[in-house]
Amino acid sequence: MKHLLSVEDLGREDIERICDRAASFSEMADREIKKVPALRGRTVLNLFYEASTRTRFSFELAAKRLSADVVNFSASGSSVEKGESLKDTVLTLGAHKPDAIVIRTPWAGAAELVSRWTPAAIVNAGDGKHEHPTQALLDVHTLRERLGSLDGSQVWIVGDVLHSRVARSNIIAFQKMGAHVTLAGPPTLIPRGIEAMGCEVRYTLDDLGSADVVYALRMQNERMSESWVPSLREYAHWYQVNGRRLGPAQVLMHPGPVNRGVELSAEVVDSPQAVITAQVAAGVVVRMAVLYEVLAHSEAPARTPEGAPA
Ligand code: CP
Repeated sequence: MKHLLSVEDLGREDIERICDRAASFSEMADREIKKVPALRGRTVLNLFYEASTRTRFSFELAAKRLSADVVNFSASGSSVEKGESLKDTVLTLGAHKPDAIVIRTPWAGAAELVSRWTPAAIVNAGDGKHEHPTQALLDVHTLRERLGSLDGSQVWIVGDVLHSRVARSNIIAFQKMGAHVTLAGPPTLIPRGIEAMGCEVRYTLDDLGSADVVYALRMQNERMSESWVPSLREYAHWYQVNGRRLGPAQVLMHPGPVNRGVELSAEVVDSPQAVITAQVAAGVVVRMAVLYEVLAHSEAPARTPEGAPA
């Protein structure tokens, strides 16, 4: 695999291979083998045009645990503030010959565009409302660890689907892994025609009890300029996943950051059903597996995860 731009480009076998490799990195970490020389001599550039805590930190840690050199770039404080374009920024930083560029932007399609401007492997770390493929992979990995398999499972994705790149990537990934996906939320936050992706749509949480997995989305206030979006108080009243609505056997997920008291009550965030911290931890091993996938078989000498010639 040269790039990771979209979950749509992955087959079930690709997702399984990445998650299996993530599981082997996780087992190695459990045996106190946290760092391996697999990408020694390679350079990973984290190019972030949007705020991030989980994705950026875990990509940096993942690259370091594979012994790659890591350079972090934030648009804030850079010459982007003087008007430098995305293309010129990529060409400028590309002069230092990074092997991989991990990119987050507010623009749908930007990762794919960047892949045309540089020979580096491109990993999409979130492009506007389009996709967040590594979030979907780490969520699949977390559910495989918890449930064994997603085949036949009922996954409800609840909340602001309209503005969510996570929802789009996760619908595709969960379905490829055999889950049945239901979307639930206010009519104004569920895109019209999304049933064409093969999911059910509900406008209430009355049947939430039928879900094996409840995946709550963040209310994305920064993308809501429209006046017809419900107030946070109204949203919480009708759609908050709380102790009254969540059953004891259901798995609760959220990509973070959580708006406590809005899409989730504080009690369920801290409940045993919540795997939110496990999702964050999975981010490192899954992103190690993704970097390994796009870099270990490209031009520089490939190595096994343990560092031996591949
Ligand atoms: N889930 C996620 O992408 O979180 P960050 O914005 O903190 O990276």
